[in-house]
Parts: sequence; C-alpha cells; structure tokens
Amino acid sequence: MNKLSTMLPASKLKIIQDLIASSTKEELIWINGYLSGVLSAGAEPANEPVVAKPAVNKITIAYGTETGNSKKLATNFAATAKKSGINAKLVSLDQYRLNDLAKEEYFFTIISTQGDGEPPAAAKKFYDHIHQNGFNVNHLKYGVLALGDTSYPLFCKAGEDVDAQLQKLGGERVVSLHKCDTDFESDAGNWFTHVISKLSGNGSPAPAVSPPVAKKSGKKVYTGSILKNINLNDRGSNKQTHHIEIAADELEYSPGDSIGIVPKNPAHIVQSIISLTGIDENKELTYRNENVSILNLLQNKLNIVYMPERVVKQYAAIVQQDIPETKISLLDLLKIYPVKNTSQFEEVIGILEPITPRLYSIASSREAHGDEVHLTVARDFFQVNNEKKVGLASDYLCQLPENGELEFYVHKNDQFRLPAPDKDVIMIGPGTGIAPFRSFLAERDSTGAGGRSWLFFGDQHFVTDFLYQSELQNWLETGVLSRLSVAFSRDKKEKVYVQHKMINHAAEFYQWLDNGGYVYICGAKEPMSVDVESTLLLIIRQYGNKSLQEANDYLDAMKAEGRYLKDVY
Ligand SMILES: Cc1cc2nc3c(=O)[nH]c(=O)nc-3n(C[C@H](O)[C@H](O)[C@H](O)COP(=O)(O)O)c2cc1C
Repeated sequence: MNKLSTMLPASKLKIIQDLIASSTKEELIWINGYLSGVLSAGAEPANEPVVAKPAVNKITIAYGTETGNSKKLATNFAATAKKSGINAKLVSLDQYRLNDLAKEEYFFTIISTQGDGEPPAAAKKFYDHIHQNGFNVNHLKYGVLALGDTSYPLFCKAGEDVDAQLQKLGGERVVSLHKCDTDFESDAGNWFTHVISKLSGNGSPAPAVSPPVAKKSGKKVYTGSILKNINLNDRGSNKQTHHIEIAADELEYSPGDSIGIVPKNPAHIVQSIISLTGIDENKELTYRNENVSILNLLQNKLNIVYMPERVVKQYAAIVQQDIPETKISLLDLLKIYPVKNTSQFEEVIGILEPITPRLYSIASSREAHGDEVHLTVARDFFQVNNEKKVGLASDYLCQLPENGELEFYVHKNDQFRLPAPDKDVIMIGPGTGIAPFRSFLAERDSTGAGGRSWLFFGDQHFVTDFLYQSELQNWLETGVLSRLSVAFSRDKKEKVYVQHKMINHAAEFYQWLDNGGYVYICGAKEPMSVDVESTLLLIIRQYGNKSLQEANDYLDAMKAEGRYLKDVY
C-alpha cells in the first residue's frame, strides 16, 4: 500500500481502495487479469474503459465431478465469466446434450479423475462419446482444467484424455491443459483469469504452474490415535466388520465426507524382498524431491502388493524377459523373474507406483462425537489361484492396535450431504454402506433435526451381522429414526435384500418421495445400487402411475434437485 500511496494522488488511491474493498475474490481475480492483459498489450490504461467488451460473449462450461470440487470451480468460473460480460452456460457433463458438442464454439471443461485414471461416473457418457464416435469438432475452441491428486499414479488422466481427444477431433485449444492437485483453488483461479483474458482479446501470460510431481499435496494430514478397534460381527459370522474410533485434534469434517488413508505394506513381505534381492535397506534414493531410504520406500510409499499390468510391462523390459501382463506382487515377480543385481533392483524401484490412498466413509458426526472420527471397515478376504489373500488397506486398518497411530486426511464429498433439518431422508445402506448413515443419524440426533428418517439396512444374518443394532434400536425408540427396515439375506431359504424391503413398503416409500423426501444409497455399486435403482423406478412407475419414460424423468428431476444421491464403490 505504501508504494501505491507514493505513486498515486490521494484521489486515485481512494478510488482503488474503494474498488478493492467492495470487490469479491472473483472480481479481484478478474481485475488482476484485466490489468495484466492491458499492460502486456501495451495499451494506455487511462484510455481503457473499466469493463472492456469481451471479444467472445458466449461460452459453455461443462463439469464432470464425483465429489463436487469440479462443480464448485465451474460455478465460480461461470460467475467470473459473467462479471466480465461473457454469457456462460453452466452444465454438468451428465446433463450435457452430446450432439451439441459439434455446434459449440467455446467450450470449457473442468473434470476430475477417479478410480485408476478414469473419468467420474457423471462424465463417462461424454468421455466415451468423444472417444468412440467418429465425428469432428472443427469449429470448437476449448480448454480443459483437470482436477486430480498427485498421490495417484495416473495424475489427472481423465482431463489429459479429454484435452488430447478434443484436439484429435479437430478442436483448437484456447488455452493449454491445466492440471491441479488437491490444493486447486488458487491454481484454478489463475486459470480462470488466463482464459477470460484470452477471451477478452488480451494475452495475459499463462498461469505459472509448478510440475505437479515436485509439489507437495495440499491435503491436511491428521495424526490420529486409535481409541477402539472392535469387530462388530458376532462369533459364527462369515464376515469381519470393524468399528474403529480415532481421536485427532482440530478435526474438520461433515457427515457425508470420507477419510483417506495410505496403507503400509506388510513388514514380512518387505523383509522378504530385501533379503531376496540383497539390497541395502538403508540406502537412500530420491523420491518426490526427498531422500528416502529403500526400507521406507518399500514399507510406506510404493505399491508392491498388486502391481498393475503397466508396471509389470516395465519390469519385463528391465529384466529383459517375456512376462505375461497380469496383476502380480513384486515379491512373486522377483521370485519368478529375478533381477540380475542390486543396481537392476534399484531400476525396478524407479518404476514402482505410489500406494494409492483408500477412502472410507466417516461413520461419526462432529456434533455427536467431538474430535473423533469413526469408521466401519469390512476386512477383505479373497482367493487368487487357490491362495488366500487379504485386502491391503482393510487388513492394515483392522489390525491397528488401541493407542496406535494412523495418518489420514479428510476427503470432502459435497455431493453427499444431509438436506435441511426438516426434510425427510430415506437411507439405503446394506453392509458397510451403513457408515455415512450412522453419521447422518448421529448428526440429526445431536442437532434435533425435525425431518423423518428411514433406514434400510441389510446383511447376511440377523444374529451375527446386525451392525450397530443397539444404537439403531435406540434411535428408533427416541424417534431419531422414524422407520427401520432390515433384510437378512441368508436367514431364510429365499434371499432377501434391501430392495425387497423397499417393495414391501412401496406405497409408503412413494409417499415419502412425493412429499419431497431425499434418497441416499451407499455401499456396493454392483449389484446392490443397480438393483436398488431399478426398484426405485419400479415404485415410481407403479405408485406414481407413470410410464417408464415418466418414471425416468421423475428420477432425473430428483437427481437435478439433489434428492437422489449415491456414494457407491
Ligand atoms: C476413489 C478415488 C480415486 C481417484 N483416482 C485418481 C486418479 O487416478 N488420478 C488423479 O489424478 N486423481 C484421482 N483422484 C483424486 C480426485 O480427482 C480429486 O480428489 C479431485 O479433486 C476430485 O474432484 P471432484 O470432486 O470434482 O470429483 C481420485 C479420488 C478418489 C476419491
């Protein structure tokens, strides 16, 4: 401010100070871009109007999101564009009319990456459309902002693919692809400024972005201590579902959020690798700009358990052997196709990918449980070639001792939130799908929400697998839970699932829907969420007297109103 005040007369300084004080963050970003555009174009600022008429006045901003980050940014971008005099049409990629793409002139996409380098479910149709259908977009001028997380091996892959494919189809980039890590706010703000300045006919410089791999992820990492780690299933169950309570300071989360953890590799496997290769475990290698010992890398940072085919392919090239491209562990690879010496093994370490974070829905509420986060974790057992295997992350979590420590971060999910307290909610969450609903109910209990709540829960056996039974029955008695419908699939000859319970109560279910109720599904994507959705459509058709098309439209309208929400995996 001092420098400004010596350079400008008081009257001009006052105008600037008033402008800054009365501007939103988005407006300040725009002003910043506008001024840099004016300066880089060498124009005389004094002769410029305060709001320049943009060269482009209509754009489409389409977002593909899973947990709401891309949507939030796209909404900000649209607001910034509008303030600059650009008419921005904002649309979710799952609502986007695919045939419109060939007619678009200016098209901007903000898209995240999910799974192992895949587009979000809501962007899948668009992604497949541009990759599979032979057409061209010669008139299209576009830009892609990719959201991702450098903890994942395929950083921003979906955004990269969309950007490359639109060019392949004949589109012209207005700005180059911009990839953001989890601390995306300011990076994205710079990108908006850059795009708008381009559209306004100014050439503000491209935003400075440091190479993502060199950057530390911006997630706030908590160190929690384990208060409780108990198996909720009774003796005789086929399952092990752990309820884990973790205490941490200054926790911030909302019902609907998850926590992300990076599991550690089993110590005995790491030791076997070290002795098999004869590598010096204390030797330090450079990993993400830091010196890290080989032991630390193998134990805590690199995926050695189920390596994807792309890594196996690189391993084959290093050891110069023909290796079938299949998912395999590093130890098995080393046993079957040994490395020549320790320096060849160091080369192998160089191609290993980071351990990917795993997400677990939060089963607690800050309102009810204070500085604690609770999880509901199913221990994963499976067989590969008749060999018993365990899931890396669930095994790691279920074995954490009381008073042990766990590092984690909060993964926000703005797409899976409780509605206003007076609204009715129907929650369908069999198995570990119950986790976010325990959080919802605890929150509604603590805040005295007035809306009705109906939970559909299911598992194998009533006697051994009724997770959180006494808590749920308590909530039923106190009215926090208005209705509880349970389905235990293996108690009778015929299998009974949550969707059968929906049918049993179909008339009432439809009344809740038609009364503005919200429907949430959490748990297995297939077959559970697919079967539940078909049942939902059936109920809407039968009890709402609708055709198939009308029932689909009804469900689409619920989605658009944020009344049909899924968190499935
Ligand atoms: C299950 C899961 C898988 C993910 N996989 C990737 C990935 O392969 N590559 C990547 O760059 N980011 C990955 N991410 C990170 C997301 O892209 C990142 O959190 C982003 O900000 C989410 O934006 P959205 O809320 O708009 O979906 C993944 C996130 C989750 C929850």
